[in-house]
Amino acid sequence: MSLINKLQVLHNKNAISMHVPGHKNNTIGKLSDVVKANHDLTEIPGLDDLHEPVEVLNELNSMLAEKSPGYTAQAMVNGTTNGIICSIYAVSEMVGHYYIIGDAHKSVYHGVSLVNADYTVIDLNEIYDINPENSCVIFTSPDYTGSLIKGISEYVDYVRRNKGISIIDAAHGAHLSVTENFKESLLSSGADVVIESYHKMLPALTMASVLFTKEDNLHQRIMHYINQFETSSPSYLVLASIEYAQQFYNSYDDRLFFEKRAELIQHLKKSGIDAAEQDDPAKLILNAPDGAFNLERSLRKSGIYSEMVTDEGVLWCLPLWHEGDSYPFTELLERIENLTAADEEEGTFINTDILEGRICVENIVPYPPGVPLVLKGNMITRDVIKRIKHCQVNHVKIEGIQYNIHYYMNEAEK
Ligand SMILES: Cc1ncc(COP(=O)(O)O)c(C=O)c1O
Repeated sequence: MSLINKLQVLHNKNAISMHVPGHKNNTIGKLSDVVKANHDLTEIPGLDDLHEPVEVLNELNSMLAEKSPGYTAQAMVNGTTNGIICSIYAVSEMVGHYYIIGDAHKSVYHGVSLVNADYTVIDLNEIYDINPENSCVIFTSPDYTGSLIKGISEYVDYVRRNKGISIIDAAHGAHLSVTENFKESLLSSGADVVIESYHKMLPALTMASVLFTKEDNLHQRIMHYINQFETSSPSYLVLASIEYAQQFYNSYDDRLFFEKRAELIQHLKKSGIDAAEQDDPAKLILNAPDGAFNLERSLRKSGIYSEMVTDEGVLWCLPLWHEGDSYPFTELLERIENLTAADEEEGTFINTDILEGRICVENIVPYPPGVPLVLKGNMITRDVIKRIKHCQVNHVKIEGIQYNIHYYMNEAEK
């Protein structure tokens, strides 16, 4: 089936979104009022230049920067991925080492490997054991499941006092501080660079992202790489959607969000589904007696699409409900009430036994969440093979396996 038909089929099925992007099939906000094919223009006179903005795009960036005075903002059309890689390139002119905290997204590893940097992966509780001088520390907060690093400003401060640079991958946190009932935005941490995917939780088009930088000098260096890596034909629709998402953020009233969220949790409970709350109120992790993978399948069978499923549970990204939204909330509750067990699905099984005990030649990455399971250069242990098999059985996509298998099959033939 063609892509266009596939998308239409999902639409006709009245699929209910509990995943990104934040506009939830255009039911949160009215993005379609802004995103119109006849507004898909290019850099004609009057529409400025994203990589040297002085007119309307400069105005957009200034409006975005008001989110947190003291930061310079740059709208981006190629996701936080691009912001992370460009920031790592820019910082590589200033530091000799990178510290990566916790489970970072693959773009962080791509960035450090592209600049051929020395890097160390550390736990957060090791941060005071390192000397950040001449180094860059990369934090991820919130993580995919909505967990935040508590007291991150103190870590950022420690890095700065010791002459290091801090980058926060806040891809999942563009909506934070939207009201006082949401946790604080990572922009309050004072980090040198904070990058937020507007598309994930706010009503913006996929790929819409914003880079925030503290110092002008660093901002200029990052822009140098954005100019090289980002498309020279940025989508005005994505840019318009960033402006729309910021306006949505600026005028958001959370009353309905918290009401509906409470009703939903209650409803799930009545149907025997446990909903674990996260630091980010817009994330829930669901579990049921038959296990998370069965739960995800049965939700999908009834047309409710989740963000991700792992052994921890089914991850939902909640809509930012508000007065006048068109999210099918009643329909959602009805479908939850009438859930039925889904049939087992055949997993696509790739035999990975050949990889046991080999050195990983390409990062092996379950996607989502895009956090590497084994990094290039490390050994693929029996335990890793078991985890890969478990993912395969449960239909979790894994990138990098074929590449490793081909590499070792070719080696064997030599
Ligand atoms: C933690 C984290 N960082 C960065 C990214 C990349 O963001 P984007 O999709 O905007 O490129 C993701 C994507 O899922 C992510 O989970």
